[in-house]
This record gives sequence, C-alpha cells and structure tokens, in this order.
Amino acid sequence: MNPVILGFETSCDETAVAVVRGTEILSNVLSSQVEIHARFGGVVPEVAARAHVEAIRPLTHQALQEAGVHPADLDGVAATSGPGLVGALLVGHSFAKATAWTRQLPFVGIDHMEGHLMAPRLQFPDFRPPAVGLLASGGHSQLVHVTEWGEYEILGQTIDDAAGEAFDKLARVMGLGFPGGPAIDKMAETGDPETVRFPRALPDRPYHFSFSGLKTSVITFLDKAVARGDLPSQADVAASVQEAIVDVLVDKTFRAVDDTGVGVVAGGGGVLANSRLRHRFVEEADKRDIMLCLPDPILCTDNAAMIGVAGAHWLGRGRITDWAENVDPGRVLGI
Ligand code: KG4
Ligand code: ZN
Repeated sequence: MNPVILGFETSCDETAVAVVRGTEILSNVLSSQVEIHARFGGVVPEVAARAHVEAIRPLTHQALQEAGVHPADLDGVAATSGPGLVGALLVGHSFAKATAWTRQLPFVGIDHMEGHLMAPRLQFPDFRPPAVGLLASGGHSQLVHVTEWGEYEILGQTIDDAAGEAFDKLARVMGLGFPGGPAIDKMAETGDPETVRFPRALPDRPYHFSFSGLKTSVITFLDKAVARGDLPSQADVAASVQEAIVDVLVDKTFRAVDDTGVGVVAGGGGVLANSRLRHRFVEEADKRDIMLCLPDPILCTDNAAMIGVAGAHWLGRGRITDWAENVDPGRVLGI
C-alpha cells in the first residue's frame, strides 16, 4: 500500500513540487530563486512569496506530467507547513490545500525539518529508526535522536547561527557572494584546510553548536592579515573556514552515534550537500561499520520529494491535517 502523493515545498527560496509513490520518486521539479535573491545578498521574504505565486501552477503541471500521473490517480497531497517564511509557506500550503479540496483528497501539513530527516528514505528505503540525524540548513542546526518516526529527541542545536547561515555570512565576509555554502565549497576545492586553525566552538557541550564566534574570528584574522600584508589565498581561507565548520558537525554527530549506540546515521539540509562534510561522514561511518543514509546533494537541499515521502508516511498512517489548520512559521521539530 504505497500512496501516490503530490508534495509541495515553498518554505524559503525554492518553489518545489514532486510526485512520490511511497518512497519512490516519480517526479521532482524545482524553480530556484537563487539568482533573484543574489543581488540582495540574501533571501527577501516578499520577493520570495511573489516568485512562488508565479511558479507554483506551471510547476505542478510539470510534476504531474513528468510523473505520468493524472490528478485522479493521486491518493493525497502534502505541503510544508513550517518552519519557514510566512508568506512563502502560505503560497504552497494554500495551493496544496485548494488542490486537495477540489479533488476531495486528504491533505497533510509537514514539518520542513522532518522532511529533511525523511529525505534519505527516497534513496535508502531500508532506512528506519533508531538513528542519529544531523539536520543542518540555512535556518537550523540540530542533532536528533530518532527513536521512532515522529519521536524526535533533540540532542543538541545551535545556540546562535545555523551552520548554513555561518557559511552564508562567512562567504559574504570573504566577498564570495550568495548562497555562501556552495561558493565556499567550490573555492575550498583547491585550498589547504590546515592554513589557518580557526576555533572549534563549544567543546564542553557535546551536542550543541555555536558558529557566531567563528565569524568574528575570521573577520579579525582577515583584518590582521591584510594589515600585515600576508593574506593567504581565498582558496586556503575557504578551506580552513569550511574545515572548522565541518569538524564540529562531524565530531558532534559521531559522538552522538557512539553515545546512543545506534547503528544508523542520517543527514539532511543544505549543508549536507557540502563535499568535505560528505567525505568525512563516509570516513567516520566506515570506521564504525554503521549504515550511512546520506542522500545525493539534490535531496539534501530543499526539495518537494522529501515532503512527498513524509506525506506518504503520515497519510498512510491516517494522519490528516484539518482544513482549518494554518502554516506555522516557527514550528519546532520534536515539540
Ligand atoms: O536546507 P536548505 O536548502 O534550505 C533551508 O531550509 O534553509 O539549506 C540552505 C543552506 C544555505 O545556507 C546554503 O548556503 C547551505 O544550505 N548549503 C551549503 C552547500 N549547499 C547549500 N553549505 C555548505 N556547502 C554546500 N555545498
Ligand atoms: Zn531546508
């Protein structure tokens, strides 16, 4: 019994629509607003909402067409209900509810972070709890002990900036543009990560993250290096910055794996698309001989297939969201 679900994701700057059957992707399409926001140096909420309005209808047609699915073949509709930008969320959520209503289909609102956590199921159908999951995106950084689907013990989270936010802010400091994560990842390819040892924060709080001090430290380092006239190459600085963030994420995730004794580690959120982080995850998982469920980068960054698979899971278990329920921009996973 694998329900066919139309999934929508519009929490930030990607309009995304997908059709999934259980854990199988039938189509997964996306209209990115990156270029629109790049000239502002970050996501402008009102601009994002307007772009979602323009893109969502043609994308829905494209998703159904590519899947070879007629609306009459759908078993349900799912959309991100939070966390995210309120105007952006409202576009996808309202469009999804209207689509479900007109077809008399069940609708379920999905937590965006739970979507990231379930995304690995699209590539690893055997992925199931108990597991440790690292969620690292532009707005969140959380270490989660998944005891059961729907039962999320938050082991730790950031006390200031999210990991993706740190990448974005540091890229701005280095003049690498927006979004910062992919820019630093690319620039770091030819750099030496041992050029500068930037601080690794909160060694005494095993599962919590802090990235705001790193930004201060990089700014101070760059100012002094410029004054001294011995500024390393951008590639070397990028590789050193990336290593500082990746080190902390990897160390804390695998400390949680060791402490909980689980045999599965998963990852989701845009930062998990980082090539160095992915390499280190493979190394650490191999050392321990545990199952690593890290989907391809395209399924780590925002997409609608992850909302579809979460929708198939919950609708398949009878969870239906009331028509009166609205978006929840401040939704917190595990509460
Ligand atoms: O999950 P996501 O696509 O959207 C949110 O829910 O926020 O994550 C976006 C974040 C951005 O901060 C972006 O810079 C970061 O993920 N990101 C990366 C990479 N690709 C995206 N960070 C590091 N390396 C990457 N390759
Ligand atoms: Zn996300």
